[in-house]
Amino acid sequence: MEQTTLILLVLSLALGAHGLSPKKCSLTGQWINDLGSTMKILNVNGNGDFSGTYLTAVTATSNEIKESPLQGSLQRKNQKGQPTFGFTVNWTFSDSVTVFTGQCFVDKNGKEVLKTMWLLRSRVDNIENDWKATRVGINVFTRVPLQSE
Ligand code: BTN
Repeated sequence: MEQTTLILLVLSLALGAHGLSPKKCSLTGQWINDLGSTMKILNVNGNGDFSGTYLTAVTATSNEIKESPLQGSLQRKNQKGQPTFGFTVNWTFSDSVTVFTGQCFVDKNGKEVLKTMWLLRSRVDNIENDWKATRVGINVFTRVPLQSE
């Protein structure tokens, strides 16, 4: 009788602890930011490396916007969720590169949010113009829900 009670107690504690564990944030999937730009992140491998595509809603150029590849790295040391990451977008329609760094959070409603900062480096013709070649900003990404057919 005592042993059964002990087993039940251990089981309920284990299940309770599992139920309380916070939802983890995963980068894989489709995201949209506050500017209306979208990105798709494919599978993150065991080293934390990932790739994907980025479709910006805005541009600093007068060029026609095209989808561009991204390459990133997710910090794997902390397995407690809400990881940090970085990725680079190599724009196919301009001479620029943008680097993003951020953290994948789960907000108070259980929704995943990517809080990022970015540096956009534009090409300038000469070193005298270097001072005006880098823009900085923040973007907040939320997950695009999966389409059901
Ligand atoms: C360019 O204009 O040369 C390339 C496009 C840059 C788009 C920037 S990157 C940072 C910011 N966040 C976005 O989603 N788009 C802009």
